[in-house]
Amino acid sequence: MASTIPIVTLLIVMLSCHAANAQLSPNFYASSCPNLQTIVRNAMSRAVNRETRIGASILRLFFHDCFVNGCDGSILLDDTATFTGEKNAVPNRNSARGLEVIDTIKTNVEAACSATVSCADILALAARDGVALLGGPTWQVPLGRRDARTASQSAANNQIPSPFANLATLTSSFAAKGLSTRDLTALSGGHTIGLARCTTFRGRIYNDTNIDANFAATRRANCPASGGDNNLAPLDIQTPTRFDNDYFRNLVARRGLLHSDQELFNGGSQDALVRTYSNNPATFSADFAAAMVRMGNISPLTGTQGEIRRNCRVVN
Ligand code: HEM
Repeated sequence: MASTIPIVTLLIVMLSCHAANAQLSPNFYASSCPNLQTIVRNAMSRAVNRETRIGASILRLFFHDCFVNGCDGSILLDDTATFTGEKNAVPNRNSARGLEVIDTIKTNVEAACSATVSCADILALAARDGVALLGGPTWQVPLGRRDARTASQSAANNQIPSPFANLATLTSSFAAKGLSTRDLTALSGGHTIGLARCTTFRGRIYNDTNIDANFAATRRANCPASGGDNNLAPLDIQTPTRFDNDYFRNLVARRGLLHSDQELFNGGSQDALVRTYSNNPATFSADFAAAMVRMGNISPLTGTQGEIRRNCRVVN
């Protein structure tokens, strides 16, 4: 008897530790929704075939989900009477895209396995597939996140980094999420795909001095000093629909589009890593994939926390 008590105690401690540190797992839905990965992949493949940019837009949605109270699908919630959601926060208003694609995937997933898979996990898988479909790396996505029951516009305004930020500020906003400066630089390589609005890079092309003159002139042609706020330009001037390492080659040539992009190669601590990525696509791919998993692990809701939303736009 004396020896069973410690064993029981040990078991209770082990179980409670497990709950506290509940880990995500790539096999989380292996038996509850065995076709999940195929369903997401097929829908993403159709969406990217329709519009290549969607892969970029969904990658960014995932980043903006994870940086606001963890990867909990909060960005997908519409505003309600009780909370103002994240969709209209400054970094997302007139800019967050791809929400309808997530709705379509959710509908398809619900048809196959109802009330089982979170919107947060669907977004994590869709982001991975968007990158892969545009020629980037792939990785196993740890799963088992649950969905938030609320969203925070002020957290979105405060925690998503600004394109006007300097390296120190970017570093501290990533550190606040448990991500290193190497993760910052690798993940910024997401800007090898997609587009940005004039309003996000006007200051850079008119005021910055660490910019290639021809590049600045090209960008000014479609982004006037005033007006044209929503005019678009590619974040990677070479291959905006191909996930490759050209983003880093651009930075070395002082052709980063956003002020925050060029901060990674401006005589500071990340110059060497930017050069490495610009010369070694395989190193960039491996670091990007590993950093995406780390970003996807930011404060997930697990176990009995949160819920499995039926409709990604509204709390159950
Ligand atoms: C390091 C700090 C970051 C800043 C300051 C930043 C800022 C921005 C801005 C201002 C835009 C253009 C938005 C618009 O025109 O409305 C943009 C687009 C984009 N960002 Fe970032 N970003 C950062 C990090 C990331 C990360 C970590 C990822 C993903 C891993 C990412 C992926 C994207 C993608 C793919 C687009 C293009 C979206 C589209 O075409 O719809 N960004 N980012």
